Amino acid sequence: MGRRPPRRNEMEGIEHVLPWRIKQPLLRTLMMASGPSGSGRLATRVAVWLLGGVYKDRKLLANLTPRPFISPCAQIRCADLRLGQHAFIDDYVTIYAHHDGGRVEVGDFSSLHRGTIVEIGAGGSVIIGADSHIQSACNLKGFVADLRIGNQVQIAPQCAFSPYEHTFADRTQPIKNQPLASKGPIVIEDDAWLGLGVIVLDGVTIGRGAVIGAGAVVTSNVPPYAIAVGVPARVVGARTA
Ligand SMILES: CC(C)(COP(=O)(O)OP(=O)(O)OC[C@H]1O[C@@H](n2cnc3c(N)ncnc32)[C@H](O)[C@@H]1OP(=O)(O)O)[C@@H](O)C(=O)NCCC(=O)NCCS
Repeated sequence: MGRRPPRRNEMEGIEHVLPWRIKQPLLRTLMMASGPSGSGRLATRVAVWLLGGVYKDRKLLANLTPRPFISPCAQIRCADLRLGQHAFIDDYVTIYAHHDGGRVEVGDFSSLHRGTIVEIGAGGSVIIGADSHIQSACNLKGFVADLRIGNQVQIAPQCAFSPYEHTFADRTQPIKNQPLASKGPIVIEDDAWLGLGVIVLDGVTIGRGAVIGAGAVVTSNVPPYAIAVGVPARVVGARTA
């Protein structure tokens, strides 16, 4: 996927330490050295300082080189983390794999915004396609089964995805000691849009291009191009062609 490099006028509003024509090659060099290691984080930190600006201003750094931008303030402990070209991992994102977790993939040009937590364990993975955007404070779990998010998916702040449940049939045992279970993976197909605070439970597929209203709890499949709202989410319409 080709994307144009940032233009000079996209720097408007960003505090300038140096003129852009001098700053751009320096930033590019720093971003080529960026990464999750200690020296890579140092390079990113210097690039952030040199760029100036705040929050999404720093997506420019992800677009300067194919290397992903990983905020120095992100917390990552995941042996199998696959970040695509131009991926953007914002401040205070956490990506955490338990010892029995699968993998986390974030595709080309996709972003995880501030405060989002990705956690995998019990063989589960979180797989995000290309050009998908997960806004702030979302909770993405890959436990027991996978969470699979397609391409060009838009996820508003404070959404949560749980492809597993606690079982609780035995009243003599604490719920925390009873096995986890899952009806299957959560699949969010390409071009879906989930509004603020949507919760998606295990085994659910949200079809291509579907729209889920703010605050919905999605407990069953939503067909492609449907509009679903409420608790539990019910289809109330369809996108017109
Ligand atoms: C789902 C949504 C897209 C529907 O928009 P719309 O097609 O213009 O629908 P309308 O506003 O005409 O509402 C249609 C009906 O659904 C209801 N409704 C709309 N959104 C709802 C929601 N989130 N939860 C419950 N009911 C909702 C309306 O009250 C209306 O009911 P009525 O027919 O009984 O009066 C929109 O309401 C929504 O929730 N958007 C998400 C906003 C958001 O999260 N923004 C963050 C952007 S990242």
